[in-house]
Amino acid sequence: MSQPKLTFQGQTIEVEPGTTILEALHTLGQDVRSDCEFGNCGTDPVVVLSGMENLSKPVDDEEWNLKFNKFPDNVRMACVTQITGDVEVELFQ
Ligand code: FES
Repeated sequence: MSQPKLTFQGQTIEVEPGTTILEALHTLGQDVRSDCEFGNCGTDPVVVLSGMENLSKPVDDEEWNLKFNKFPDNVRMACVTQITGDVEVELFQ
């Protein structure tokens, strides 16, 4: 089976299943601010352009944060969202 791929700004890398989006973005050299790294603070939102079904379900802290801060449905916190299949993301502005 092929490894999951993350695409960001036209760059695609293969990652181990379970790698977080934040770890993958770091591998691509992206300096993403991430204050808490457990899904709660809301500093590392990414827009999922494709592959939402290829991501881990939100942990409780992320679920609370997504609702409390009224992020759109296609936004996830990079620090706690694990990649299980191909996905394309961009930074949430
Ligand atoms: S670093 Fe706080 S939500 Fe990701």
